[in-house]
Amino acid sequence: MKKTVVLLSLAVLMAVSPGAAAQKKTDGVRPPTMGWSSWNAFMLEISDAVIMDHADLMVSTGLKDAGYTIVNIDDGFFGYRDAEGNMIPHVTRFPNGIKHVVDHIHGLGLRAGIYTDAGEMTCGRNYNKEINPAPVGIYGHEEQDAERYFNEWGFDFIKIDYCGGHRMQADEEQMYTNIRNVINRVAKHPVELNICRWDYPGTWVSGVAESWRISGDIRPKWAFIRNIVAKNMYLSAYAGGGHYNDMDMLALGYNKKPSPFNDNLPLGLTYEEEEAHFGLWCIFSSPLLLGCDVRYIPEETMKIITNPELIAVNQDPLGLQAYVVQHEGEGYIFAKDILTRFGKVRAVALYNPSEEDITFTLRPEEIDLAGPIKVRDLCARKDLGTGSSLQMTLHGHSAKILRVEGRRRLEQTALEAEWGYCPAFTAIESEGGKYVPTPAASMGAAVYNLGGSAKNCLQWNDVYSAGGKYHLTLTTLPEKDAEIVLTVNGAAQTLRIPAAGGKPQKTTVAVKLRKGQNRIEVGNPDAALPPVDRVTLERL
Ligand code: GLA
Repeated sequence: MKKTVVLLSLAVLMAVSPGAAAQKKTDGVRPPTMGWSSWNAFMLEISDAVIMDHADLMVSTGLKDAGYTIVNIDDGFFGYRDAEGNMIPHVTRFPNGIKHVVDHIHGLGLRAGIYTDAGEMTCGRNYNKEINPAPVGIYGHEEQDAERYFNEWGFDFIKIDYCGGHRMQADEEQMYTNIRNVINRVAKHPVELNICRWDYPGTWVSGVAESWRISGDIRPKWAFIRNIVAKNMYLSAYAGGGHYNDMDMLALGYNKKPSPFNDNLPLGLTYEEEEAHFGLWCIFSSPLLLGCDVRYIPEETMKIITNPELIAVNQDPLGLQAYVVQHEGEGYIFAKDILTRFGKVRAVALYNPSEEDITFTLRPEEIDLAGPIKVRDLCARKDLGTGSSLQMTLHGHSAKILRVEGRRRLEQTALEAEWGYCPAFTAIESEGGKYVPTPAASMGAAVYNLGGSAKNCLQWNDVYSAGGKYHLTLTTLPEKDAEIVLTVNGAAQTLRIPAAGGKPQKTTVAVKLRKGQNRIEVGNPDAALPPVDRVTLERL
């Protein structure tokens, strides 16, 4: 395995470093869910034995100790509704009902999860040859199912799919909000909710669910990993406060027993692909739900998925999602704060989705740190030393997750549009997209289709500054003349932007920033904005 690591101007080589996992955990937000879910390995072929065996395996393999505590029964447990509409489990798959399965899971100190659909039918009923036509989705049975699933059977978690809802062409925000309200009213203990509708649903979702899928179903194939990462890398502003973008189940561990979805592939991902997949799910703070048959997880995969330093990055008390800090050629570098907001320690990922080797150079100021930087490879669990910058060559289809510690934290001098939060954003309805790859824009992306309503603006909600007077430069890509309202900590001013044939156009104004966190917004409630590329800040 060729991997070149060079720390330029090497100053000190650290023999021992505590690593992220060994650091004392502070109280933080609820971390992403970790566990196992039945669908990707078993589809409809589940049973009480499969589920209970997997609960046992979580304990005997050490996965529970590593943090994997949810055992989720996905689609396929449904039988029919009786004359009163009560859900009766599948009689051959769960001949003794469901409660004893949940009791078994709880008896092992694990939490139990279940599945439904916001509409009348589940995806299994719609697409996967489940022939019993009973409407087993939660629609129209919200109270009754909540009573049964949470109070009678005792589930702690529910995944709510959307094949049935989609078929009914219902208003999904209304449907899911109603389900959340009913669960809150009926359930006698807290229930965690995961929404599964295969695209970022909209900003309403963080008030309704703890996590939500942002993409279609994963398969153990690199193209799926790459596409899911590409979808999620501009959604960092929409995760936070204990609510997470769900990149779908982990597609690791299929090298001995292929996935039923494997579409003619004899094996799953390569070792480097598995390492990249897991590391990226960690740094993006996705829920970590294993999707394979745990009996067949190879030893080397087990090492990846139980790596405590990567898991600590996923379960970090700040609960943040990494965002793009460098995009050169086909490579990306992502970063997020860990342990302390705006501290001098950050988690960083070097990511090579391409087919060729890429040599990365990480300069400390790109991640708002003053050098020299002390670097630890969290995948290999090895210190790499201290230097003025880091150079590392990565194979195609790979990623490295690093812990980078600088001498001190620097104030932010650049805000990419892709890091911004749009209160009106929904991936489902955003025609032509909002976060769009754009070669002329810095880091290759810009935000489109803003303006026309107050909420259709772009906000950077915690801009870290030393405080004082600054030149703020807004870069847009205007085809025609435009007006943009720039608001800094509540003070608004209108910027006139002349047409530039869609090329980058810089507009500079003087602003005042507070010491600490600041809020910057660009928008126009009455008219469309040109694509927004970035904001830079220069201290006066
Ligand atoms: C959808 C979901 C999957 C799984 C199946 C079950 O496809 O995205 O994760 O729950 O439904 O039918």
